[in-house]
Amino acid sequence: MDVLKVNHLSKVYGGKVPHQALSDISFSIQQGEFVGIMGPSGSGKTTLLNLIATIDTPTSGEVQLHGKRPHQLKGPNLARFRRRKLGFVFQDFNLLDTLTVGENIVLPLTLDRKDVKEIEQKLKDVAERLDIAEILDKRTYEISGGQKQRAAIARAIIHEPSLLLADEPTGNLDSKASHIVMETMEAINEQDGATMMMVTHDPVAASYCHRVIFIKDGELFNEIHRGEHRQTFFQQIIDVLSLLGGNSHDLSSVRL
Ligand SMILES: Nc1ncnc2c1ncn2[C@@H]1O[C@H](COP(=O)(O)OP(=O)(O)OP(=O)(O)O)[C@@H](O)[C@H]1O
Ligand SMILES: [Mg+2]
Repeated sequence: MDVLKVNHLSKVYGGKVPHQALSDISFSIQQGEFVGIMGPSGSGKTTLLNLIATIDTPTSGEVQLHGKRPHQLKGPNLARFRRRKLGFVFQDFNLLDTLTVGENIVLPLTLDRKDVKEIEQKLKDVAERLDIAEILDKRTYEISGGQKQRAAIARAIIHEPSLLLADEPTGNLDSKASHIVMETMEAINEQDGATMMMVTHDPVAASYCHRVIFIKDGELFNEIHRGEHRQTFFQQIIDVLSLLGGNSHDLSSVRL
């Protein structure tokens, strides 16, 4: 079953010199799939993610989530859709520093006025899974980058969204913290059957995906599927990236 369907999606940014950021992109993501999006800087990855996230509207084409078209929703209906159906993980964590880690994590449930008992139980469960139970009362400036990203992931999954969207989740992390974050994402995908889409420059992070879609100059360039071995997939990702050219990867920091 398809969770996400993207049909002939295009985006032109207006302004003095209009810029076609995406041209006629079509693909689907099935229930339980973990899909990576790669491509050189400026190729349209964040644009694509923002269109799917309903943060931005397409110039033409459509996005369907479970057969529904979120871009047809407006105001509070759109906000509710986004809050309930989607989970977000960002490069810069986007945690609120006026709240504790725990308060940040339960935000999607608090905003949805869930029962306090239910919120507490869900927080306990998710914090144990992500190994952050010890830091729930801390402020966001008192914890490490890796802990921040695991807290952000906890917040993104606590309401069991239909689709988890991540934009460069390892972009601000060192290789050790990146590995922990990717292993956490992999576990969420495998244990919960979560459907996930991740934009990344990092071929190591991408090698955790089932499938990687490459875009170049706003168009689909290639798509590769992972076989049994992550190491082999990593090598295939590197090969496509070298075909793509541009500053799509910085291999100097790669450690497997
Ligand atoms: N709000 C905007 N207005 C006008 N042009 C934009 C806007 N946002 C992005 N662009 C342009 O659209 C193109 C795609 O941008 P996008 O942010 O999607 O790239 P990206 O693949 O995410 O790049 P990066 O890897 O550097 O994050 C770029 O040429 C960018 O300059
Ligand atoms: Mg981007």
